[in-house]
Amino acid sequence: MPDLIVAGNWKMNTTVSEAAALAAAVRDGSGAVPGVELVLCPPFVSLAAVSDAVKGSAVKVGAQNMHFRESGAFTGEVSPGMLKGLCDYVILGHSERRQMFGETDESVNNKIKAAQAAGLKPILCVGESLEQREKGQASDVISGQVRAGLEGVSDASGLIVAYEPIWAIGTGQSATPETAAEVMGGAIFETLRSLFLAAADNIPLLYGGSMNAGNAGDYAAQDCIHGGLVGGAALQADQFLQVAAAVAAAKG
Ligand code: PGA
Repeated sequence: MPDLIVAGNWKMNTTVSEAAALAAAVRDGSGAVPGVELVLCPPFVSLAAVSDAVKGSAVKVGAQNMHFRESGAFTGEVSPGMLKGLCDYVILGHSERRQMFGETDESVNNKIKAAQAAGLKPILCVGESLEQREKGQASDVISGQVRAGLEGVSDASGLIVAYEPIWAIGTGQSATPETAAEVMGGAIFETLRSLFLAAADNIPLLYGGSMNAGNAGDYAAQDCIHGGLVGGAALQADQFLQVAAAVAAAKG
């Protein structure tokens, strides 16, 4: 089975001091959830403080985005080399970046390759809109995003894929575990299999979209789901830790 991972996507929330306090609270409670890799993804400006706060614990840190170039005239951007040493993971292709900031499959693909080259573990996010789902296009859209995002990528080690249906993000309307499993065990896993053969069996697949302490266990009860990418529920340490505990219990 792939590693179990619960990652908190803090989005544009928390000041530096709030981030440090939240990270310390997660660190202090993390001993209760052995067997699940906890990853905290604060805003860029808090990476250093969060990385300091979790130092010496098993809690890991991730960024929410990254440029694919190493340096240059890219105002406002952050490079892979700048993230190295501050974090181990990077979320790439989140739907909010695709929808609001012009992220394309091509830029996501460049970023995945750059992350791997820098030794960062990319969390590739894919997911369909409500309109695409209602038109019956979900599987095609998702396998297309996986294939395009991973074009030319030959090494699956360190890769994580998160399925986040856009209509479930921040809405409280989570996909049912069965719907999530249908996509994750179907379109996503089959596409990964066609790209990476048996190595696909070790790629952690995370569900994201209104995941919380109450429903996390139901997702993790599905064979093809190995954890979650958690937004709103990651902003409180106890809730985030309860999500991880529910994942551990369901797999245990
Ligand atoms: P949510 O966000 O848990 O608040 O729905 C998940 C995400 O966008 O990563």
